[in-house]
Amino acid sequence: MSVEIRPATTSDLKEILDIDPVAEVEERRHDYVSLAMRGQHGRDVRVLVIDEELVGYAVMGEFFGHPFLERILTAEPHRRRGVASALMANIEAGFEGDRLFVSTNESNATMRELLVRRGYRVSGMVENLDPDDPELFFVIFKSAIDAQVEPAP
Ligand SMILES: CC(C)(COP(=O)(O)OP(=O)(O)OC[C@H]1O[C@@H](n2cnc3c(N)ncnc32)[C@H](O)[C@@H]1OP(=O)(O)O)[C@@H](O)C(=O)NCCC(=O)NCCS
Repeated sequence: MSVEIRPATTSDLKEILDIDPVAEVEERRHDYVSLAMRGQHGRDVRVLVIDEELVGYAVMGEFFGHPFLERILTAEPHRRRGVASALMANIEAGFEGDRLFVSTNESNATMRELLVRRGYRVSGMVENLDPDDPELFFVIFKSAIDAQVEPAP
């Protein structure tokens, strides 16, 4: 089995939209992913590919001058096998700066569990984005990530 995490190319767009049910129904999401791939507002998109099948993607952007994970998704049949964790580990190993932000709806218990398990801390909440479902912001500091890395024997 081959597993690869790499920057998305425009030829990945269809597969990204295929695995993301929101992207499928929302033209806005299509434009968002397609522009992010081309680096709009300093964004970048990376994908995780298993044996040539695109099974996950992540969009990195910026939040008040800090790196910000805007979107992460694993294709439904591949969930709970470490795909998002691998994408996040890849992002955490390479971001510029001393802290990384990410947000999710309060109702998204899965994402919240993933973030807490990885050592992220709640950093604030914004109401009035989605009706009756506040956006929770999380942060992790580089020092905390470095502290999780086992020292070499
Ligand atoms: C959130 C999401 C990206 C997780 O992807 P994934 O590849 O399944 O995640 P992983 O397999 O790396 O899971 C890592 C940890 O997250 C937590 N987790 C993941 N799925 C979970 C679930 N359904 N219930 C509870 N905890 C869960 C667990 O702690 C898990 O570790 P474990 O499997 O050892 O218990 C995926 O569910 C998804 O694409 N959801 C829809 C899009 C979304 O909500 N994105 C986040 C906001 S942008």
